[in-house]
Amino acid sequence: MKINYPRLKSRIDALAEISPIEGGGNCRLALTDEDKHGRDLVVSWMRELDLEISIDTVGNIIGTWNTAELSPVMSGSHIDTVRTGGRFDGCYGVLAALEVIQTCQDAKIKPPRPLAVGVFTDEEGARFAPDMLGSLVYVGGMAVETALDILAIDGAKFGDELVRIGYAGPAPCPGISPHAFVELHIEQGPMLEANNTRIGAVTSVQGISWREVTILGQSNHAGTTPMSLRHDPAYVAAEITVFVRNLALELGGDQVCTVGKVDLHPNLTNVVPARATLTLDMRNTDENLLQLAEKRIADFLTKIADSEGVKISTRVLARFEPVVFDDRVVACVEQIAKQHGHTVRRMPSGAGHDAQMLARVCPSGMIFVPSVKGISHNPAEFTTDADLEAGANILLHAMLSLTTLETQA
Ligand code: GLV
Ligand code: MN
Ligand code: MN
Repeated sequence: MKINYPRLKSRIDALAEISPIEGGGNCRLALTDEDKHGRDLVVSWMRELDLEISIDTVGNIIGTWNTAELSPVMSGSHIDTVRTGGRFDGCYGVLAALEVIQTCQDAKIKPPRPLAVGVFTDEEGARFAPDMLGSLVYVGGMAVETALDILAIDGAKFGDELVRIGYAGPAPCPGISPHAFVELHIEQGPMLEANNTRIGAVTSVQGISWREVTILGQSNHAGTTPMSLRHDPAYVAAEITVFVRNLALELGGDQVCTVGKVDLHPNLTNVVPARATLTLDMRNTDENLLQLAEKRIADFLTKIADSEGVKISTRVLARFEPVVFDDRVVACVEQIAKQHGHTVRRMPSGAGHDAQMLARVCPSGMIFVPSVKGISHNPAEFTTDADLEAGANILLHAMLSLTTLETQA
């Protein structure tokens, strides 16, 4: 049995027509009008397939086929994007899961368990931190009330935006625990392509630590204030940026550190700024090394605040420890890829994913397909048709195989 690739591709293209940006990507930040339009389209496809649709209190959409009393094998991902997103990140996983269900319906096979597709709210965390917010709440990792109170980077409240776009649903969170969860995603990194490998059987997701750092200095005239008398938040922000880059290089291994967002106030040519705010994104597959990175950065902030006469405060935006996926799901993906004649490698994920949250409540894993040049969170994100089709077929057989996965009662 095979999925219908032209049908999957046409849905990927149709979803990408909502909120397109130059270069072929999308801007569909969570809970914006664009997100609503994307959701409406996916829900209309779920209706066409006659799925039972549930929308929960944080806006996660779960479409279930063949609703028996048994817990479903679930797949899915997200359709929100970063501001400069590609067309595959998240959307591919959601639409491939939908395609798997339609393929089974067309073939008139009846899996022994329901199959479900989840569209999780705000996976990117680009508008509302933390990332993977919807799936985190789905598995009980954050209270609904806490999530509803989170403020966006534009000041809007999560709960208000959810109501505004009509996706504050009645289904309770935490939601039902699936029998198993397997997410299909583009790799978003260079490893599969570099190793000439088609399928990644994802073993783990690295730990994630996001901080917002606010630096308060002395705003003053750019022409009259001698360099020796400055308390300049922009300079301190630059020093922090250099420090975290060098720290990542020094720690080695998997450590990565990114300053992705910097805001200066009042942001004028001839004014020494009063304030700088920046974000730190730090990740490592090793929790101890990630904690070491956090400590080294905290020590540096104390030191530079003292030497530059500025005040520095930090706020945790996201903190998730590394997650190891269930070896039975990893082995299932690996085996099916081999049976289909594909090259496959076990690998960790550098990006965060909803599957890492679902792993808290059921056997979970992921399937990766190559990203050309390893580019993602960029409109140029691209995966070939052959790889997209291969990944969706692995998902089909993995979901069916997981319906018979034995779990302890
Ligand atoms: C989410 O996509 C992340 O890894 O930043
Ligand atoms: Mn994603
Ligand atoms: Mn992403």
